[in-house]
Amino acid sequence: MAEETTTVGVIGLGTMGAGIVEVFARGGTSVIGVETTQEFADRGKAILQASTDRAVAKGKLDEQGQQEILGRITITTDMQDLAPADLVIEAVPERLDIKHQVFSALDDIVSDTAILASNTSSLSITAIAAGTAQPERVIGLHFFNPAPILKLVEVITTLTTPDELVQQVSGIATSVGKKPVVVRDRAGFA
Ligand SMILES: NC(=O)c1ccc[n+]([C@@H]2O[C@H](COP(=O)([O-])OP(=O)(O)OC[C@H]3O[C@@H](n4cnc5c(N)ncnc54)[C@H](O)[C@@H]3O)[C@@H](O)[C@H]2O)c1
Repeated sequence: MAEETTTVGVIGLGTMGAGIVEVFARGGTSVIGVETTQEFADRGKAILQASTDRAVAKGKLDEQGQQEILGRITITTDMQDLAPADLVIEAVPERLDIKHQVFSALDDIVSDTAILASNTSSLSITAIAAGTAQPERVIGLHFFNPAPILKLVEVITTLTTPDELVQQVSGIATSVGKKPVVVRDRAGFA
């Protein structure tokens, strides 16, 4: 995958996922956000609308810019819509069984070259990766709350993460204005 990521998928549009969608859409990337139900999908859209409305009200964004950002975002309840994504970041609840469910479904949806990232705060990336067909393409990409504002992101590697993937993911984070710090997979990370 090129550092100029063309399509990013985000799974779970709660506190973190909606913010991560905004980060990439602001960075000029097409984003596909996935939720479980139409109600939660609509809530995700409302979070994005409200967050960009606040930026317009503060004069940090004009209305045309807001429309461009929102126009890059597709929200869906169908994980199959993630097929074109070359990076997918999960921000589902902090439970290993849910993370496994999501990543094993992704194995059959995205291309073999797509990168799978977890926004987990405390689970082991190695344990999350173990539930997938290609564990070496699973990496941690840990944003802090509020994701559109805070610049630090942790890129969490396992013993089998290829250096090239670390460089690629760090480059992607930098390209959307973040400051990546690479850390080894362990409880609490950095
Ligand atoms: N909240 C924080 O401050 C914070 C900070 C950094 C990292 N994190 C991590 O980010 C992740 C998400 O946390 P959050 O606070 O955003 O949680 P949240 O509960 O606000 O959002 C989770 C969302 O995932 C959705 N979801 C659940 N299962 C799904 C599925 N199978 N497919 C699609 N969507 C699904 C839920 O409907 C919900 O909207 C967790 O791993 C958490 O540890 C949280």
